[in-house]
Amino acid sequence: MLNRAKKLEHVHSDIRGPLYTESQRMIKEGISVLRLNTGNPATFGFKMPDSVRNALLNNADKAVGYCDLKGMPEARRAICEYHKSKGIQDITPDDIYIGNGVSELVSMALTALLNDGDEILIPSPSYSLWTNSAYIAGGKPVFYTCDEQSDWFPDIDDMRSKITSRTRAVVIINPNNPTGAVYPKEVLEQIIDLAREHDLIIFSDEIYDRLLMDGVEHISTASLAPDRLVITMNGLSKSHVICGFRCGWMVISGAKGKADDYLEGIFQMAAMRLCSNALTQLVIPAALDDFASTKAMVSPGGRLYEQREATMRELEKIEGISCVKNKAAFYVFPKLDVKKFNITDDKKFAFDLLHEKHIFIVPGSGFDFPTPDHFRIVMLPEPEELAKAVADIGDFLKDYRQ
Ligand SMILES: Cc1ncc(COP(=O)(O)O)c(C=O)c1O
Repeated sequence: MLNRAKKLEHVHSDIRGPLYTESQRMIKEGISVLRLNTGNPATFGFKMPDSVRNALLNNADKAVGYCDLKGMPEARRAICEYHKSKGIQDITPDDIYIGNGVSELVSMALTALLNDGDEILIPSPSYSLWTNSAYIAGGKPVFYTCDEQSDWFPDIDDMRSKITSRTRAVVIINPNNPTGAVYPKEVLEQIIDLAREHDLIIFSDEIYDRLLMDGVEHISTASLAPDRLVITMNGLSKSHVICGFRCGWMVISGAKGKADDYLEGIFQMAAMRLCSNALTQLVIPAALDDFASTKAMVSPGGRLYEQREATMRELEKIEGISCVKNKAAFYVFPKLDVKKFNITDDKKFAFDLLHEKHIFIVPGSGFDFPTPDHFRIVMLPEPEELAKAVADIGDFLKDYRQ
């Protein structure tokens, strides 16, 4: 028997795990499954912006060789300007690494940081990339609560109570996946204060920073913490709906002086993979200048906005479901009334819904949420299709009991 490595023991993905395998089996049998599991806009007809297409087609010849291991200079200059415009101080293109999506960079940054047993504070609920990368790096994810009663903002007292002598870093996902919450300045400042007090590195995953609705403002954590080592992650997968390009970056700011050795570790990791996909780096300057295509999606009349409205309208009609409206991104994380439905196993709930209504949602446990009463909806299909799907969920719940 050939066993997988022990370090994969706790790695989990309900977005692409057993539910995914079952949905694939059903699709092969000819069943049409509505996949509300991944945040992959292209699968629902979102097209790449012209800015991106033109930059790619006009420059492709420049991407034939390996490029600088940190990324193409022009692309890093554009990224640097973008983050300076968001208030991150004292950065140069040298503080930027471009990667094959944020996914690769998270893994690089945590592998370079964590020794076996080192702890890292991660939000619950949260997108599992951070948790899984921490496990593989030998670290121990410790979850802090994001409080549904307070618009899903991090509970600072809970975060404080989870800090030990082994805690190395805190992860902030803002805007958040799966809650769609956007954190105000006061919340970020309290987290930064804790990081100061306990000498923690801050990782701030801001990949949804442009997908804002209802006039909310996004504040970059690093802009408030020039004295702390902050690693900000961002990319084009979501704002420019080009997940398949695998284009992300990280910006290292703040107290770099004290982190020479760690930063060399990151350099080693980046050097090992030679460079990130060069073709996709060609589009970064044009994409970062193109605010209009993203704005059009999140403004009233735009797809992401109307899809959210349609989803919320239908969710409100379901007895036994409550839901905090997201302010960014394209996810909501509704709550089920456990007493009413007697739900004890959220994976079973997801399997039952998949089998009965052919709708694939991800259960809350897939986001390291501790109770079995939540699930995530990806709001990417057109408004009518989403409205129908949510109505179907309501219909399914009418007599669902575990
Ligand atoms: C919070 C968050 N970070 C990172 C990623 C991955 O981004 P990328 O496509 O750049 O690897 C996702 C994808 O859904 C995400 O939700």
